[in-house]
Amino acid sequence: MIKLKVEEIYKTFDGKEVLKGISFQAKEGEFVSLLGPSGCGKSTMLRIICGLETPDKGNVMVSGQTVTYQKPEKRNIGMVFQNYALFPSMNVEKNVGYGLKMKHVPKDEIAKRVSGALELVHLSGYEKRPISKLSGGEQQRVALARALVVKPDILLLDEPLSALDRKIRGEMQAEIRNIQQKVGITTIFVTHDQEEALTMSDKIILMNGGKIEQAGEPWNIYNRPASVFASDFLGKANLLKGMLRTMPDGRKVVSGRGWSFPTNTKEEDGEVQVAVRKWSVLCLVKRFILQ
Ligand SMILES: Nc1ncnc2c1ncn2[C@@H]1O[C@H](COP(=O)(O)OP(=O)(O)O)[C@@H](O)[C@H]1O
Ligand SMILES: [Mg+2]
Repeated sequence: MIKLKVEEIYKTFDGKEVLKGISFQAKEGEFVSLLGPSGCGKSTMLRIICGLETPDKGNVMVSGQTVTYQKPEKRNIGMVFQNYALFPSMNVEKNVGYGLKMKHVPKDEIAKRVSGALELVHLSGYEKRPISKLSGGEQQRVALARALVVKPDILLLDEPLSALDRKIRGEMQAEIRNIQQKVGITTIFVTHDQEEALTMSDKIILMNGGKIEQAGEPWNIYNRPASVFASDFLGKANLLKGMLRTMPDGRKVVSGRGWSFPTNTKEEDGEVQVAVRKWSVLCLVKRFILQ
C-alpha cells in the first residue's frame, strides 16, 4: 500500500524557486531517504509533508487522502527536527507525553504510553531527568520517543544525527533503523550524508537544486548513477574519458589511454565518461560508466 504520495511539488521563497516539481512515494513501512547537498530543498519538502509549509503547486497524499492544505495538528505525522526542539524546562517524561496531553489523553494512559515509548528507545528509568542532564544521543532518543508516542502514520526525521559525534552517530543509525522496523512505521529521513542514506534506506531520493536527480534502491543508485552528480555525490569516484566500441563478436569494450575493459552496457558507441570507484563493479548509464 502507498502510504505517502508527493505529487509535482513546487515552492518559491522570495522569488527563488526552491522545489521544482518533486514527486515520490513511500510504501507502508518503507524507509525513504531524501539525500542531497545543503540548500537543495530537503527540509522544505519535509515541512510541506507535515504541513508547516504549503506548496505553491502540487499535492501531498497520506493513505490516499489529500492533506496538502490541512493544518499540521490535523495530520497524524511525527517529526524529529535537527536540533531536537525539546522543551528544556520539562523533564523527559513531560517532553514525551506533551503531544498526548494536548490531545487530552487520560493521565494513566499517558504514563503507560510514555513508559512504552521510552522502553522502545532504551531510556527506561530516565522519566524524571531534566533535558539539560542528557547527552546529545539521549536527547535524540527523547525526541524520537516524543514523535512515536502519538502513533503517527508517518515519521519524518530531518538530519536527526547531524549534531552527534561519529561513534554515537553510527550507533544511532542502527538504532533508528531497528526501531523503525520494529514499529513498522513509514519513515522519511533527510540527510546530506551519502553513507548514512546508503546504509539505512529502502529507497533513496537524490535531490539537487530543488529537483530529483535520481530515485531508487541504494544499491542501484550507487552502482547505476544516472549522472556525474549522482556518481560524485554517492561516493568519491575518479572520472575518466573513454571510448565505447562494439567488437565484431558483439561484445562491448570501453577504453582510454593505456586502459581497456569489457562492459555489458546498453549505451551506444562513442565517447563516454567512466567513473572508477574502489569497487570493481562495472556499469554504464547515460553515456556514463562506473567501475
Ligand atoms: N522560510 C524560508 N524563507 C526563505 N527562504 C527559505 C525558507 N526556507 C528555506 N529557504 C531557502 O530554501 C532553500 C532550501 O532550503 P532547505 O529546504 O532548508 O534546504 P536543505 O534542507 O536541503 O538544506 C535554501 O536556499 C533556503 O535558504
Ligand atoms: Mg535542511
